[in-house]
Amino acid sequence: MRAVCPGSFDPITRGHLDIIVRAASVFSEVIVAVGRNTTKNYMFDVHERLGLVTDAVSEMANVRVALIDGLLVDFCAAQGAKVIVKGVRFGSDFDYELQMSQLNRQLSGIETALLPAGREFGTISSSMLREVAHNGADISAFVTDAVNRAVLAKVGR
Ligand code: PNS
Repeated sequence: MRAVCPGSFDPITRGHLDIIVRAASVFSEVIVAVGRNTTKNYMFDVHERLGLVTDAVSEMANVRVALIDGLLVDFCAAQGAKVIVKGVRFGSDFDYELQMSQLNRQLSGIETALLPAGREFGTISSSMLREVAHNGADISAFVTDAVNRAVLAKVGR
């Protein structure tokens, strides 16, 4: 079964990668879908985010990457994907994901599967990493080398 792992990925973290690897072990094919949440201000534009995700998953045989241009549910229908996979770290993620999953199911009937975040990188967020990187801290434990270099370039280090 084909699954879609959607997100902003601003930038992709080891927490995201943990969810993608686990989704790829359950589903025969995973499409990592890079989207826009119009309420968010991004550090990386959508093409930069797509490039960093593509690099991060390049070794995963049954994973590919695409842009969401429009609604996630329309993207899933066009790709023939019957399930959306998202990671949840804590209760506030669950509240947000519950709302999105119910809306997406109302819109198109698509199901959402929620994976609990793994232990090691379970509570990191892209927004916290951006914030600490802006203030000079090292985020290399939480992201790939390519992402680390891209963030350092953005914050001018
Ligand atoms: O990083 P996020 O906020 O979890 O990513 C959210 C994203 C990009 C997956 C979501 O905003 C999305 O699906 N955008 C495409 C437009 C859409 O379908 N919006 C309605 C979803 S409820």
